[in-house]
Amino acid sequence: MKILAFAASNSRRSINRQLVACATGMLAEQVGEDAEVEIIDLNDYEMPIYSIDRENEAGVPSEAHRFLNQVREADRILIAFAEHNGSYTSAYKNLYDWASRINRRVYQNKPMLLLATSPGPGGASSVLKTASEALPHFGADVRGTFSLGSFHEHFDEEFGRLSNPTHTEQLRDLIGRLLLAEPASN
Ligand SMILES: Cc1cc2nc3c(=O)[nH]c(=O)nc-3n(C[C@H](O)[C@H](O)[C@H](O)COP(=O)(O)O)c2cc1C
Repeated sequence: MKILAFAASNSRRSINRQLVACATGMLAEQVGEDAEVEIIDLNDYEMPIYSIDRENEAGVPSEAHRFLNQVREADRILIAFAEHNGSYTSAYKNLYDWASRINRRVYQNKPMLLLATSPGPGGASSVLKTASEALPHFGADVRGTFSLGSFHEHFDEEFGRLSNPTHTEQLRDLIGRLLLAEPASN
């Protein structure tokens, strides 16, 4: 089972990357040795800011094609969204916009979990709400969402795991549901 995961952030110290790595670790534990996890870094998909003029002049950059190919090959996808001013980070939105010009159904019917965390108590719930409402219109088969507020209080950065057993239970439950999902046909 191929798992594609990433933080929707280009921060080298991304807390969402830590959260998504924790979730994929829990998932791999449940799946066992059949799990093939790939955590990608949005810095490897940096492109000029989307513009219709750039697209008309030079087409869609190869990074967007590469991203869509990785989505196509995945059986399950996990994303952890960083929140900037209540919404997506520019790094994520730019990749998403370019990719949508190749295939509007960016997420190609893949079963997905959407996560989000922030240092404050809000847990990036605004961007998580936006993503969970919008992504199904772009091919995402969203099987659950998980928001973690006050990251530094609720995450053990040394061991890369959630500190609170209730949160661990919630996330484990969602991962179980994701694994049971029958992928829709493309
Ligand atoms: C430009 C900018 C805007 C931000 N806006 C929000 C916000 O609206 N809500 C929030 O909870 N945190 C906000 N933050 C704080 C982020 O949650 C924090 O930087 C977090 O670490 C981002 O996740 P990441 O580490 O995975 O990139 C903002 C940070 C920046 C740099």
